[in-house]
Amino acid sequence: MSKFIVNNSGPLQGFVEVSGSKNAVLPLMAATLLTRDECRITDVPELMDVEVMCGLLRSFGAEVHWDMKERSISVKADSIIDTYAPRDLVSKMRASVVAMGPLLVRTGNAKIPLPGGCAIGDRPIDLHIKGFHALGADIRITKEESGHECVEASAAKLVGTEIYLDTPSVGATENIIMAASLADGITIIENAAQEPEIVDLANYMNKMGARIKGAGTDIIKVEGVESLHGAVHSVIPDRIEAGTFMLAAAITRGDVTIGNMLTDHVKPIAAKLRECGCIVENTLEGTRVSMGPNPPVATDIKTLPYPGFPTDVQPQFMTFLTTVQGASMILETVFENRFMHIGELNKMGADIREDGRRAFISGSAKLKGAEVMATDLRAGAALVLAGLVAEGDTVISDVYHIDRGYDSIIEKFKSIGGSIQRI
Ligand code: UD1
Repeated sequence: MSKFIVNNSGPLQGFVEVSGSKNAVLPLMAATLLTRDECRITDVPELMDVEVMCGLLRSFGAEVHWDMKERSISVKADSIIDTYAPRDLVSKMRASVVAMGPLLVRTGNAKIPLPGGCAIGDRPIDLHIKGFHALGADIRITKEESGHECVEASAAKLVGTEIYLDTPSVGATENIIMAASLADGITIIENAAQEPEIVDLANYMNKMGARIKGAGTDIIKVEGVESLHGAVHSVIPDRIEAGTFMLAAAITRGDVTIGNMLTDHVKPIAAKLRECGCIVENTLEGTRVSMGPNPPVATDIKTLPYPGFPTDVQPQFMTFLTTVQGASMILETVFENRFMHIGELNKMGADIREDGRRAFISGSAKLKGAEVMATDLRAGAALVLAGLVAEGDTVISDVYHIDRGYDSIIEKFKSIGGSIQRI
């Protein structure tokens, strides 16, 4: 299994370009199951999770062609031959669950083992299931011979309805939009997730002939149509990757311009960096993050659903806060178990105390290289950032988590002066 070795790199400098969004491309790929026609998605990032989603679509009978050079994926799901999502793929990637809505409405059946992915909390799928049930599906929890549980949904025809989500779940909103797109009548989703990835999905599906209004707000209206057709769509840039490079510039006290990112999508990250004293400005090439006249200082952060501060950038921001002057506090409200990086950062000399969903960070830490483990995707990114400013070698194991979500991470960091290699 490969590891990363990261070394102190001094201030990162130069230009780096963000790839297409992981969290957007996965539901877009699932949406291709909604039509028999060929669909094409462009600006696809080269990621393990995309590979897993290709495997999943193939297992349902779709023809999938991923042209990595062209960064595009073509899918033709002319006929669906299986509606069971294989356990080995689902356990690798929790987002597999978004295949359930399209499968259910297209074929009347969907069966999926309870999903895996990052271990950042219980991560139930009750809201997805409630949504399918409200649309008229029968839901059963069954046990496989191995003893593992599966969720099975079936319905002769889904019927539009009103659905209120207790929590604005991204995945549940996506699944319900897709299931409702071919249902009879109108579906209204209240307290819907407002993430840009939802807007991207709705834009794509509307190109396919769906009638979805309100994506990006907390009330989404989906008018079911008879059928959808093929369409071509390019994925939005990855706001979490963009945020990670913004933090890389900040933690190394560098000067980095990040291209192909949408500043509107990273407003809370930019606001918090400015509060710490960094300069975040838009230039012709992209968003430039550099140092202000004074050393950066502490701040407090509360993670929230979009447009609040993203939980997916919390570990990276926490790492930066270990290096600034003063004491900071982070309140994680989205996931109940998203502080696994704290133990690893403390091994590197950080001084972070965890108290339930709060983390108290003492600043001005002098980080030292250590053997650490990427416990999940964004925790892994945080350790890369820590390694860039630590004295000595930082050896990160379990980097398959990082490969799930960062396209060409080694090459990109190297291009701005990062000392990082894979062994
Ligand atoms: C998506 C992102 C992930 C991000 C997360 C929150 C993808 C592929 N992943 O994950 O990177 O960290 O949004 O921004 O897009 N919940 C329930 N019941 C459910 C579903 C969710 O209680 O049925 C809870 C979760 O436990 C969590 C919260 O809702 O506490 C948000 O989860 P959700 O928005 O569903 O996250 P994902 O779609 O899994």
